[in-house]
Amino acid sequence: MTPTKSQRTLVAYSSKNGSTAEIARLIGETLHEQHIDVEVAPVSDVPSIAAYDTVILGAGLYAGHWPGEAIRFVRHHRQALTEQEVWLFSSGPLDGSATERTIPAVPSVARIAAKLDAHGHVTFGGRLTDGTRGFIARRLRKQGKVGDFRDREQIRAWARDIASELTTVITQA
Ligand SMILES: Cc1cc2nc3c(=O)[nH]c(=O)nc-3n(C[C@H](O)[C@H](O)[C@H](O)COP(=O)(O)O)c2cc1C
Repeated sequence: MTPTKSQRTLVAYSSKNGSTAEIARLIGETLHEQHIDVEVAPVSDVPSIAAYDTVILGAGLYAGHWPGEAIRFVRHHRQALTEQEVWLFSSGPLDGSATERTIPAVPSVARIAAKLDAHGHVTFGGRLTDGTRGFIARRLRKQGKVGDFRDREQIRAWARDIASELTTVITQA
């Protein structure tokens, strides 16, 4: 069903090495296919979220946390976020676990989800390339963690579920 009323959605992301950015773009494309009015942007490029009804916020996991810029985004926009429809996603595991089972949000992100009364959170697989810099990345590479563990169909299915919830909200409004 095509939404009958404008419902602007923002997919905001924090991505140090680019893989979460690609997830965010895939979510944006999928929502667009479902007739949702959507924009995709890095958190650092979003001065205000007042124009949006829905915010989907995601970040890559580093040492069990979202990067600082994602946390600052939540703090800075907290008031607006509590009034908007919010979904969260994380990207991280460098193995097939995220497609095999539901991986709960790390504690700091679970607290954000609770504070914002988010509709949901999902953990998608991550990606590590040979080019990822840093000591930990080197160690992960030695452990054989190089690879792309993002499941595009899982990501698209999650986005389609959101689109369907938004469409229901819009047509009932
Ligand atoms: C230094 C470093 C630390 C990481 N820590 C975690 C972690 O704690 N938990 C996890 O699931 N993945 C971890 N990962 C995997 C990343 O979350 C994964 O590579 C993700 O796709 C990165 O997203 P980005 O490319 O958008 O920055 C880590 C990767 C690196 C390089």
